[in-house]
Amino acid sequence: MNTAISPQALLAVDAAMLPGHPFTAYREGALCIENVAAADLAQTHGTPLFIYSKAAMLSALAAYQRGFAGRHAQICYAMKANSSLGVLQVFAQAGCGFDIVSGGELERVIAAGGDARKVIFSGVGKTRAEMRQALKAGIGCFNVESEAELDVLAEVAGAMAVTAPVSIRVNPNVDPKTHPYISTGLKGNKFGVAHEDALRIYTHASNLKALRIVGIDCHIGSQITDSTPYLDAMDRVLDLVAEIEAAGIPLEHIDFGGGLGINYNHDTPPEADALWRELLVKLDARGYGQRKLMIEPGRSLVGNAGVCLTEVLYTKPGEQKNFCIIDAAMNDLPRPAMYQAFHAIVPVQPGRSAGNERLYDVVGPVCESGDWIGHDRVLDVKAGDLLAVLSAGAYCMSMASNYNTRGRAAEVLIDGSAVHLIRRRETAQDQMRHEQLAAN
Ligand code: LLP
Repeated sequence: MNTAISPQALLAVDAAMLPGHPFTAYREGALCIENVAAADLAQTHGTPLFIYSKAAMLSALAAYQRGFAGRHAQICYAMKANSSLGVLQVFAQAGCGFDIVSGGELERVIAAGGDARKVIFSGVGKTRAEMRQALKAGIGCFNVESEAELDVLAEVAGAMAVTAPVSIRVNPNVDPKTHPYISTGLKGNKFGVAHEDALRIYTHASNLKALRIVGIDCHIGSQITDSTPYLDAMDRVLDLVAEIEAAGIPLEHIDFGGGLGINYNHDTPPEADALWRELLVKLDARGYGQRKLMIEPGRSLVGNAGVCLTEVLYTKPGEQKNFCIIDAAMNDLPRPAMYQAFHAIVPVQPGRSAGNERLYDVVGPVCESGDWIGHDRVLDVKAGDLLAVLSAGAYCMSMASNYNTRGRAAEVLIDGSAVHLIRRRETAQDQMRHEQLAAN
């Protein structure tokens, strides 16, 4: 299929996509991240390669900090979005806390120089071993997700003769209007405790000696592009705060979770500062504006700070479609296969194109039809060209796998003109290190 597209259409695609990436731009016909040309990075470090802009991460963080100016707020980066040590280090040095969901994530926080006291531990299935590890490290708060977990935590803390700081995650039953796999605050979800049960469970917790109630939390979903679900959830949570405190259980902090979306494909989420200006109006009106506030943003801090650089291996005309086969795959960029997610794909050196635009499905080398990175993309490419998959800072490397015994990609952190290799490319030897042949 030779569906030729005009160069204007190609330019329109590029121009529309890059504004969401504040420190990624074309300069003299070459894609640059901060002051570094992507093509030079490919030359030095190979592809696929994740490239992160430190300035972009810090500017995303600054939007939250502006939103909370003058308030008592703690930002806990939800590190599941990108848990690479070099990324955690940026947020640890900026004074952030971390939202973790496993003992492994806690070890990463500590390895990156983070402060355990600013760690909150979320997740529906914490093990006793993870509870012990977190209590030993002295984390700031356990976000407890069920009555059963509360009892186990009390037992574990009691046996260690320590007190566990707890918050209970309540499910506000608000529709965040996002993909069903990443919506978490509805009644049918496995997360949190039901609104109607919250007071009873708080009362139960207040009778457990090894626990100290410090807060309440919620998280309604991810890639939320509208402030309405946040405002609704805030109302529901504040209703509960009033009820719980009226029952004589004080709450030091209120944690509103994460979830703010980014621009993947003409999405228009509010900026973090604008969102929080709006939310704080409600919080003030209801008399909770001076309370300690916590949030757990992940995607909005790192998503558009990262791109994945990839090389075109082959182009292949098909009977119904053209295929552009790249060296990155679903094991590196799992979001399209998992959620039919859209990631913009742009040329790294558009000036070198041959005026031969075609409509392509951009696919990886993995042996699955689900291994696609973009459908129906207008590209002017030939083997050896470099492409950049945008919005790849969140939920890409942290969800990457070794499927097809593909080594995970290398990662670099750009800081102005400085390039820091923060993860070397994984080898087959790395992957086989923990395996052995059976003794015959
Ligand atoms: N807090 C809790 C309790 C969470 O479960 C999550 C994300 C966050 C905070 C951070 O949410 P964010 O600000 O990043 O939206 N893999 C999916 C996203 C899964 C989100 C899971 N929970 C994706 O690639 O879209």
